[in-house]
Amino acid sequence: MSLKHYLQFTDLTAAEYAYLFERAALIKKKFKAYEKHQPLVDRTLAMIFEKASTRTRVSFEAGMYQLGGSVVHLTTGDSQLGRAEPIEDSARVISRMVDLVMIRTYEQTKIERFAEYSRVPVINGLTNEYHPCQILADIFTFIEHRGSIKGKTVAWVGDGNNMANTWLQAAELLGFTVHVSTPGGYEVNQAVAGVQSDCYKVFQDPMQACTGADLVTTDVWTSMGYEAENEARKKAFADWCVDADMMRAAKSDALFMHCLPAHRGEEVEAEVIDGPQSVVWDEAENRLHVQKALMEYLLLGTPQ
Ligand code: CP
Ligand code: NVA
Repeated sequence: MSLKHYLQFTDLTAAEYAYLFERAALIKKKFKAYEKHQPLVDRTLAMIFEKASTRTRVSFEAGMYQLGGSVVHLTTGDSQLGRAEPIEDSARVISRMVDLVMIRTYEQTKIERFAEYSRVPVINGLTNEYHPCQILADIFTFIEHRGSIKGKTVAWVGDGNNMANTWLQAAELLGFTVHVSTPGGYEVNQAVAGVQSDCYKVFQDPMQACTGADLVTTDVWTSMGYEAENEARKKAFADWCVDADMMRAAKSDALFMHCLPAHRGEEVEAEVIDGPQSVVWDEAENRLHVQKALMEYLLLGTPQ
């Protein structure tokens, strides 16, 4: 199997996603039935965190153990990564000792440099630019609740951030449309997303973006690494709080998603995230199942 990294959503094809969604469903079914699924016995995953995490850490760590493998957890503070050892050297060393690496860091260029010097697959566990594992889980969650996402409309309300960029990449690849509404100055950067504009439409009014949507989704106003902008962002984003009126503007069976962690009363009202259209807990759980399918695929391909 040739070396395959997962650094952006565009690193896999639509056919590969179709396989992963089917495989994740099977892996989830086995997990729910307490049936062992251990294709990665003796394999080791290194997880490198330069930013905080709950879901990404638990889902990758529990997932790798459930697949029969083991995990090494590194952070900037407790490794030489925080003491300026070059990324290229870290990549050469770590990838001689483990079978797979997951990295959560700042600039996408850091993970790209690591991957260039890695002998094993590297997975993006969130960068400033992208969060592909989350969108993998979100689309799997949509499919579970509503079937294929092809031809559907996703409303993105809030920051033009890593999640927004990745939704756009997914829309172009899998054939759906994203209605994007951000405050001025926080727009998505089409060059970073690397997509054509016909996979997304921009709306100044978040209510218009939600109109007729099959899925309404948002994220924190201030992503990790941008904390110094918090006060300015709170002012700029005040009208970009997903509320019951926005959900009423969407289709009557529209879902609500949020990658979490959430701030009730900021980017979403409690009645929406805790309401009947919200699937945020399924979304979080599905990180586990889709990433198990992803890790298995990157290491073993498509086992018969
Ligand atoms: N959604 C997500 O990636 O959560 P964590 O920051 O807790 O990993
Ligand atoms: N956009 C958020 C997602 C957190 C999972 C961040 O980057 O902090």
